[in-house]
Amino acid sequence: MPADFFSDISNQQTPPQYRYFDGSTWKPGSSGKTADVISPIDGSVVGTTPILTQEEIDGVMAAASAAQSAWELTPLNKRVGVVHLAADWIRHYLDYLVALLVREVGKSAEEAKSEIIRTADLIDYFADEVQSIQGMTLDSDNFPGFEKGRIAMIERVAYGTVLAIAPFNYPVNLTASKIAPALLMGNSVVVKPPTQGGISALHLVRIFQKAGVPAGVISTVTGNGEIIGDYVVSHPAVSMVAFTGNSDTGVAIAGKAAMKPLLFECGGNNPVVVMPDADLQVAAREIIKGAFAYSGQRCTGIKYVLTTPAIREQLVTLVLKTIPEMVHPGDPRSPETKLVGPVISEAAAKKIEEAIQTSVKNGAKCVLGGKRDKAMIEPTVLTGVIPSMPIIAKETFGPVVSFVDVASFDEAVAIINRSSYGLQASVFTKDEGSGLVFGKKLNVGTVQINGSPQRGPDHFPFLGVKRSGVGVQGVRYSLEAMSRLRPIVLNKPQ
Ligand code: G3P
Repeated sequence: MPADFFSDISNQQTPPQYRYFDGSTWKPGSSGKTADVISPIDGSVVGTTPILTQEEIDGVMAAASAAQSAWELTPLNKRVGVVHLAADWIRHYLDYLVALLVREVGKSAEEAKSEIIRTADLIDYFADEVQSIQGMTLDSDNFPGFEKGRIAMIERVAYGTVLAIAPFNYPVNLTASKIAPALLMGNSVVVKPPTQGGISALHLVRIFQKAGVPAGVISTVTGNGEIIGDYVVSHPAVSMVAFTGNSDTGVAIAGKAAMKPLLFECGGNNPVVVMPDADLQVAAREIIKGAFAYSGQRCTGIKYVLTTPAIREQLVTLVLKTIPEMVHPGDPRSPETKLVGPVISEAAAKKIEEAIQTSVKNGAKCVLGGKRDKAMIEPTVLTGVIPSMPIIAKETFGPVVSFVDVASFDEAVAIINRSSYGLQASVFTKDEGSGLVFGKKLNVGTVQINGSPQRGPDHFPFLGVKRSGVGVQGVRYSLEAMSRLRPIVLNKPQ
């Protein structure tokens, strides 16, 4: 029964007051201060999470540090078993977790189900992949001036305690994508869940606890980022920070984390370039899916389309014609709703509305949508947008796509490479060769040819350049990023 399995993590009142996990016990915060988690669907309180004091954070960190080396020394086959069991529990509680995600972050049941199943599959993949991570030995004689016999034995070892900070848009998946590699490489992991989405993330931590992660090795620190963030990221017990979230927060964390290793995936404004020879039907459908899925609240969501005025005219007509078939905004609990529901909060919706209005005031044309009702933003299409307009100069986490006219495709390259973001870009063309040549000119993490930007499949490398990220994620890449090399050199006896 889910109620029994998850009973410790809240006081089970309505709305529940959730607890934090100090590594051994689920506890209410001592300060009595809590953060409300508000459903974007109806404004109801889903529950509260405690805002921890610095003393409580110190306690969590001390427990994580104390438990780490025994965990790293636990045979890998046992750690793998624990992690696989967590994936099994996630599948077991699929329906329960889906219902929670729908209410907490406003996903449709289909989107929530895909997040949960993807998470279980990802965790299993991590647990399989870790077994192929091997050390190596190097002899000295390759380097000029050295004889044979000075041997470096190079192992991969844990950093210590990984701080995992996840965002609201995939609170289960993007928490698991940090917990699993951290644990498998022998680290302790302290989870700092997002406020919104935090309840789902606490459930995930409970699952890992129940799967057999030993005391202290997994724990949580809850509280709004503005209140506890600086203290947590600069905490001396934290050895590495893994973060997904917006770029401004990423820059601030990097400053506070000083020389700690970082694995960051931050914002993106993911442009699409449509070449004159592209299949415009395919491009239109991919643009709609890429821009409006989960109401545009994906770091990989399409934010703008670059093409010549002649192609833009045909493409916008097609996009507007296809939207009614693919997009049906509404309550994510309704089976009628397709792609667009409420954004995460009314405050977030107001910011999106403001970016639309400012861009329109500065000369953009709103050819569809543009209006807000509480947390709902209409699916919005803007034309005549220029790169300095707020709608694309900053990441807009909402259901808005902008069309930017270019005189040439060299101009498109210049615009993309001038942007302060560099997560992904897409190129649509029937000629894959020219797509490849064009793609190589773009300074972004990943270029997609004839498909919309996306993270998956999750074993592909996923990275951003500039303000979009630091380091590389993806199954093997995350395992490597959450460990370091430790060479031990055997010198020749004198
Ligand atoms: O942080 C990555 C997330 O926002 C996008 O993931 O799978 O929707 O491309 P995905």
